[in-house]
This record gives sequence, C-alpha cells and structure tokens, in this order.
Amino acid sequence: MSLAIDELLLERVDGVRLLGPLSLRLGPGERLGLVGESGSGKSLLVQALFGVLPPGVRQAGGRFTAFGFPLDRPGRGRDQIRGARMAWVPQDPRQALNPLLTLAQHLALLPGIHRAEGSRRALDRLTPLLERLGLPTGGAFLGRFPHQISGGQRQRLCLAMALSCDPELLVLDEPTTALDPLARRAFLDLVLGLQRERGLGFLWITHDLGLAAEACDRLLVLYGGEALEAGPAARLLSAPRHPYTARLLEAARRRPSREAGFLPAPGHRPDGCPFRPRCPDPAEACSAWGPWRGEPHDGLRCERPLEAAAPA
Ligand SMILES: Nc1ncnc2c1ncn2[C@@H]1O[C@H](COP(=O)(O)OP(=O)(O)OP(=O)(O)O)[C@@H](O)[C@H]1O
Ligand SMILES: [Mg+2]
Repeated sequence: MSLAIDELLLERVDGVRLLGPLSLRLGPGERLGLVGESGSGKSLLVQALFGVLPPGVRQAGGRFTAFGFPLDRPGRGRDQIRGARMAWVPQDPRQALNPLLTLAQHLALLPGIHRAEGSRRALDRLTPLLERLGLPTGGAFLGRFPHQISGGQRQRLCLAMALSCDPELLVLDEPTTALDPLARRAFLDLVLGLQRERGLGFLWITHDLGLAAEACDRLLVLYGGEALEAGPAARLLSAPRHPYTARLLEAARRRPSREAGFLPAPGHRPDGCPFRPRCPDPAEACSAWGPWRGEPHDGLRCERPLEAAAPA
C-alpha cells in the first residue's frame, strides 16, 4: 500500500476538531481525488502527511504509513520517504520555496539529500523534465530567485522539485489554481503522462470537478473535515448520492443553489452530519450520526441519499 491513513484526527490546540477521524488507502499507481470546499481540512491533511502542520494544530489521534513505514514517528524510513518516494506539490509555492535560494539551488536540493547527487549532475538529469514543463533550462533563468519568475513558473518549479527524485506517490494540493487554462492543461497532461509511463500514484486535491473527473479513478468528498461520500469518480459525478456532492456538481455547472451558504467555522459545527444546516432534506437522525469510521472506499454517510436520477 503506498499510503494508508487510519482514523487521523487533527485538532486545534484548544481541542476544536479540524479534520477527521479520516481513513483512506492508496495503492501503487492509484489516482485518488480529494474534493471539498474551502476550509474542509484538505491542506491540513497534506501538511500532516509531510510533518509540517502549522503551529496551533496537532495530531490528536490516528496513524498513517507510506510504503509500510510510519510517517508520524521519527525514523530513517520516514526521512527516506518524504521528498523522495512521496513528494508534495503545495497549494502555495511560497510554502516550498526559499527566497534566498536560486531556482537551480531549489532543483538540486532534494537530489542532494536523497541521492547524494551534485548540483550539476542533478540539473543535467532534470533538464528534460524542465523542458517538458515549459521552463527555460539556461543559466540565466536558473540563476534567478523565486520572486523573479511568474506565479505559473513558480508552480511548475514546485512540480519539478517534487518530481526531482522520481517519486512513486505525488500529493498535489490544488496545484493548478494559479495557472491559466493552457498551463493547467499542460500540467495535467504531464502528471497523467507520468502516471501512465511510470505508474506514479497520486492524491490530487482540487475544487475543479472537471479535472477530478479526468485525472482521478476514485474520489473522496470531504466536508467540515469529514468524509461524506466516496467511490469511482465517474459514478460520483454522474449519479451523486450525497446531497453535498450534488451541490458541488451544481455549483460546478454554474447553477449555484439559492441557499448556498458557507461551511460553518471549526467549533461551530453541528453535532452529527456537518452538512445538516445546509442540507435540503435533513432527517432527525442526522444529528446523531458519528463520524465515518473505517475506510470510506465506496459508499456514503447520509440518512437520506439521493435516488439515482433517471437517465436524461
Ligand atoms: N494554524 C491554524 N490554526 C488554527 N486553525 C487552522 C490553522 N490552519 C488551518 N486552520 C483551520 O483548519 C480548517 C481547515 O483548513 P485547511 O487549510 O486545511 O482548509 P482547505 O480545505 O485546504 O481549504 P482551501 O480550499 O481554502 O485551501 C479551517 O477552518 C482553518 O481555519
Ligand atoms: Mg487548502
């Protein structure tokens, strides 16, 4: 198993629950999409996986392993996995880039740590990748600092860094938000190409259901830090069963619902199903639902699932 997360629970230091308990599994070469609106805990999950939770947030329960090694305990296995076998493309490139290092120094960073590769050698090896990403490979460009290139170039630099040690698993946190449609297409094609050529698996976090449908085999829908529905991407998008998944799809088709509303802030979430205040048809029993235990591989957590729509 490339990635196994068991009942991960993230809390604010004052005890307010932010994410979980959440479980998921990702096999080699699998393409899992994580969708959910702003504030549902997607980035915190990724930060937990890479050991960079922000101050004020702690892991209060659960465990996770990558390639069989526990990631939430210090150890050689963990150090050899993060950045090498499992790599991260952050939501905000500023999280991964150091303003004092040149682009070349950034690119040589992980190969230096994980492969004891010198800078020259690493850059030579990475040249075809940079070309594929549409990044210049000359010294004039690679000698620049992160603030001297465009936002889209910074995002692609982060992807090149993530790929610099030939990972088996990529965790992508909304990596295409800052890209224009053409660059987004190129980015998607590149990751999907690597997936086909090398069997790269990924956990792709996105708001973009079109992208999720195209890039992912399986989707997990998060709301308020909890999984609400999971299953094959094609099925979820053609016949959603959770009213929240249906709402996401509606919004994606630019027909925002009248009572759209916002995700309640942590600490102000209702008991039971977090979607209850916005649900078009809540049941009495929804307030008694506990978080989804075990792995939501294919199923949903809803008292009143939508009927499968008749084919149009
Ligand atoms: N350092 C922190 N201290 C306290 N609460 C935090 C901290 N960082 C994030 N949170 C809270 O945790 C929740 C989840 O945040 P997270 O960044 O994971 O959301 P997200 O799903 O990635 O949203 P987006 O789509 O906007 O990136 C939010 O309610 C956020 O306010
Ligand atoms: Mg985020």
